[in-house]
Amino acid sequence: MLDWDNPIAESNIVNEADNESSESENTNGIDANTSRICVDDKRIINCRADLNQLVPFKYDWAWQKYLDACANHWMPQEINMTTDIALWKDPNGLSDDERTIIKRNLGFFSTADSLVANNLVLAVYKHITNPECRQYLLRQAFEEALHTHAYQYCVESLGLDEGEIFNMYREVPAIARKAEWALPFTQSLSDPDFRTGTIETDKELLKELIAFYVIFEGIFFYVGFVQILSMGRRNKMVGVAEQFQYILRDESMHMNFGIDVINQIKLENPQLWDASFINEIRTMIDDAVTLESHYAQDTMPNGVLGMNAAMFTEYLQFIANRRCTQIDLETLYPGAKNPFPWMSEMLDLKKEKNFFETRVTEYQTGGALNWH
Ligand SMILES: [Fe+2]
Ligand SMILES: [Fe+2]
Repeated sequence: MLDWDNPIAESNIVNEADNESSESENTNGIDANTSRICVDDKRIINCRADLNQLVPFKYDWAWQKYLDACANHWMPQEINMTTDIALWKDPNGLSDDERTIIKRNLGFFSTADSLVANNLVLAVYKHITNPECRQYLLRQAFEEALHTHAYQYCVESLGLDEGEIFNMYREVPAIARKAEWALPFTQSLSDPDFRTGTIETDKELLKELIAFYVIFEGIFFYVGFVQILSMGRRNKMVGVAEQFQYILRDESMHMNFGIDVINQIKLENPQLWDASFINEIRTMIDDAVTLESHYAQDTMPNGVLGMNAAMFTEYLQFIANRRCTQIDLETLYPGAKNPFPWMSEMLDLKKEKNFFETRVTEYQTGGALNWH
């Protein structure tokens, strides 16, 4: 079993045949005599090759996603919030229902992204035994920090009650239920005694990855995204909506990375994907759709902006079907349609806002080192 608390020691273990040579390690724990890594040694989980060497790449898709994520860099404070502040402070600027949507979504997301970040760093990272995937996880962890920063920035800009917003995940039932659903998964993996390497624990890890990447980031985020982005489409709270648009783009990449990891683990460990496991996952997805439908009901009890809770239920069924297909499961809700086709355009955010180009220059100027 690998000693995760001593990563240098891992570099002694190249493969089973080299186990004997690890006894001849030198005093700093690095064995100069082991053979060099070849791509065939690499695996997503339970890998015994040196985790400190990024190359040679085996999973080019992971490295490419890391590069794409870096190319999409953005910062929350570069988005102009002035019209949002004026609209929020104007007593006639927004209806009570619109204000509920803003506050509840900031309430959910402000703690949800911390939950995802903590899950990555404290639970997932050490069990993913591949350096190019870890490189992406490090980038993702930073993006989750940026997202929490973005919500904090919205709360501060609008002058909202921080205590009220940041405690909603404990105090508002529809938000609390989503956090409560996710917590047990991360807790079991972050147990210091948890080890992958048996069918049972490998299944537990795979289930946890599905819970976070496919369900938490891939289903639980989407009612909020639709609600906030549809306000932006109607020219309301455009700064908050722009923050959410950049976050949606990041999140969709997180989910796609997670799905690639899940499918690769299945490919390398087909014994994990048995009938009872498949049933369990389908039930998890179905439960998640029910929970997220309640969240839609709770955040917009009266219907607003031409949307109502029934449309969200259908939308959730539609995206749940897509998630099923992405991990090669039969769809759960045959015939579900997408009532918000404009959402797919939102994912196509590229550099046309030209905002990225100007900011990239600013970074280089602002962050340039002065050697003299
Ligand atoms: Fe996030
Ligand atoms: Fe994420």
